[in-house]
Amino acid sequence: TRLEITDSDDGLTRITFHEVPDGVNRLWFRLKSTGSDEHVYGGGEQFSYLDLNGKNFPLWLQEQGVGRNKSTYTTFLADRNNWSGGDYHRTYWVQPTFISSRKYFAHFTSTTNGQMDFRNDDFHEIEVWRGPGSKAFPGKLVLGAAPSFREISTKLSGLLGLQKRLPDWLYNGVILGIQGGTQSMLGYLKQAQGEGIPVSGLWIQDWAGRITTPFGRRLFWNWQWDPKQYPKLDKEIIRLKKEENVRLFAYVNANLNHDGHLFHEAKSLDHLIKNETGQIYLLDYGSFYCGIVDLTKPEAFTWYKNLIKRNLLDFGFDGWMADFGEYLPIDAVFHNGVSGEELHNEWPVLWAKVNREAVEEAGRLGDIVFWMRAGFSGSQRYNVMAWAGDQLVDFSTADGLASVIPATLSLGLSGFGLQHFDIGGYTSLYGIIRKEEVLLRYAELAAFTPMMRTHEGNRPDENWQYYSSVYSMKMLRRSTEIYILMKNYTQSVLEELYTLGYPPQRPLFFHYENDPLSYDDSMKYQYLLGKDVLVAPVYLPSSQTGDKWSLYLPPDDWVYLWDGTNHAEGGKYVTVDAPIGKIPVFYRRDSEFAEFFRNVAARTLPLPDPPSPKLEHDESSLVTSGLTVSILFLIFLLPFLFLLPKI
Ligand SMILES: *[C@@H]1O[C@H](CO)[C@@H](O)[C@H](O)[C@H]1NC(C)=O
Ligand SMILES: *[C@@H]1O[C@H](CO)[C@@H](O)[C@H](O)[C@H]1NC(C)=O
Ligand SMILES: *[C@@H]1O[C@H](CO)[C@@H](O)[C@H](O)[C@H]1NC(C)=O
Repeated sequence: TRLEITDSDDGLTRITFHEVPDGVNRLWFRLKSTGSDEHVYGGGEQFSYLDLNGKNFPLWLQEQGVGRNKSTYTTFLADRNNWSGGDYHRTYWVQPTFISSRKYFAHFTSTTNGQMDFRNDDFHEIEVWRGPGSKAFPGKLVLGAAPSFREISTKLSGLLGLQKRLPDWLYNGVILGIQGGTQSMLGYLKQAQGEGIPVSGLWIQDWAGRITTPFGRRLFWNWQWDPKQYPKLDKEIIRLKKEENVRLFAYVNANLNHDGHLFHEAKSLDHLIKNETGQIYLLDYGSFYCGIVDLTKPEAFTWYKNLIKRNLLDFGFDGWMADFGEYLPIDAVFHNGVSGEELHNEWPVLWAKVNREAVEEAGRLGDIVFWMRAGFSGSQRYNVMAWAGDQLVDFSTADGLASVIPATLSLGLSGFGLQHFDIGGYTSLYGIIRKEEVLLRYAELAAFTPMMRTHEGNRPDENWQYYSSVYSMKMLRRSTEIYILMKNYTQSVLEELYTLGYPPQRPLFFHYENDPLSYDDSMKYQYLLGKDVLVAPVYLPSSQTGDKWSLYLPPDDWVYLWDGTNHAEGGKYVTVDAPIGKIPVFYRRDSEFAEFFRNVAARTLPLPDPPSPKLEHDESSLVTSGLTVSILFLIFLLPFLFLLPKI
């Protein structure tokens, strides 16, 4: 075996392998480590750890799992039920990329299975596999060094690609995730507007209709408008945008229900992936079967792209959730002849590319927002917005509100900076029911991210919704207005992403490189929004915090946003009052935006009066409309089981 090492003009070093003997199907790459005083970050979207040192991370995309912590009861129940409990490393977006506190990044270009292992004191190890039948050993190791984390981010983005500008209309307000048909949708909008909630759009995931299965009502995976479910939507979508400046958002994934006409069209065109006997690979989703569009076949790729253009863009949608991407079966047969094992990790990149090209060819890039949870190296170029997947509707650290913070920070350090999450979380199982407090804590955090969107969750009827009380609506309004007030600053931070590749949400050490405490593991739940704003979200219930919150201020002069109190010098822990609605946020006293922040604080609405009893919705259709998709989640989890590699 021969190693070729090249230095290129972009300041990166590439190591390529040649003449790897045929029988060799594993490769281990080791880079020197200085042990426990070194910190390692990135690895894609990591929900449990920001500093990866001391642990190993399989390079295999999977649903993140329920609970994600083997020592919690929720995870135990999910594992006992169908082995869906997850673990610290399970993620929709893993990536063979890391940044070391020794000021370099390493990125492996392979898409195959393997792992990153940071458990050894002397070295970091990247293991990659050669897929069955592959000739060349896949991938190169790319290394880039720079004096600061900022410059490393810029270098890494130069390699992986910069993200495109988000549209201005996001700052019209929150996107409300609601469903149930045209009347129901308009009812929710009217109600929200009546409460003064600034609404930028409505996300109706059931736009293509629903099916009744033995497990309950499910979405119909046949991606076109269902006029029975949404009568006159073709007119309303135009009217809402024109008259009310409210956009509509849909839902798609790369599967087609075999009872739908799109499945039959794709089948007749030979656009679906096959199984070993050359027949259509039917994926069992528990109560219905699906075909998967073969995105490796150029004609199928184009067919799907045109479907998105026609049925979503031409219809008038301004975006959608582009779901899934992490399920590709490894025993499927693809048009391009590559094995499922090699395509599995790359699949969400192809899926993002379909969506991106549809938007781009329609001339709508920068105006349309689709959001994806799955990703891998390459998604940086195609995805326009990530979302953190299916959090629990509670305060658990490994899978609840807290987990979206390290997830966002690690993804940002892996070269993708545009992330948001379901306000309120998604997964309600094993007796975990969303309470008002959880919903509101998610909402107040979302105000300090690039995008706000609510989700009713997998069991809308049982869980607390923003429309469950007047108090919740007042609080959502307040958070949304803070998000809007922050617009100029947040956009200036995003500008650094679009041009320099700096993630908008940054770990403290990104700007305080010489402060040892900024690297402390406990800092994974705090972040800097740009260089001037420090956010320390409350991720525990009031019953535990007594509405007080302790956080760390890195060495600088800080001002508490909500009352203007000065905290000179920093480099210390402080405790602040943090009732619901007052997420601990500080700004740098010397910021050029200091006046702007004072203005944000001055214009923020006062906290509304304390909670009122849960609202009974006047329109009973609205209550039943949150048709239960509870089974969905469980069933979604089943297929990944046979995708698990034998590691
Ligand atoms: C291939 O798929 C067909 C259905 O399209 C199924 O009947 C057959 O059993 C599958 N074969 C294998 C080997 O999985
Ligand atoms: C997992 O749960 C245990 C017990 O509750 C806790 O001590 C630990 O910090 C958790 N780990 C993560 C990564 O959340
Ligand atoms: C935000 O920026 C716009 C455009 O530059 C400007 O007109 C507006 O006054 C700014 N708003 C605040 C609050 O600074």
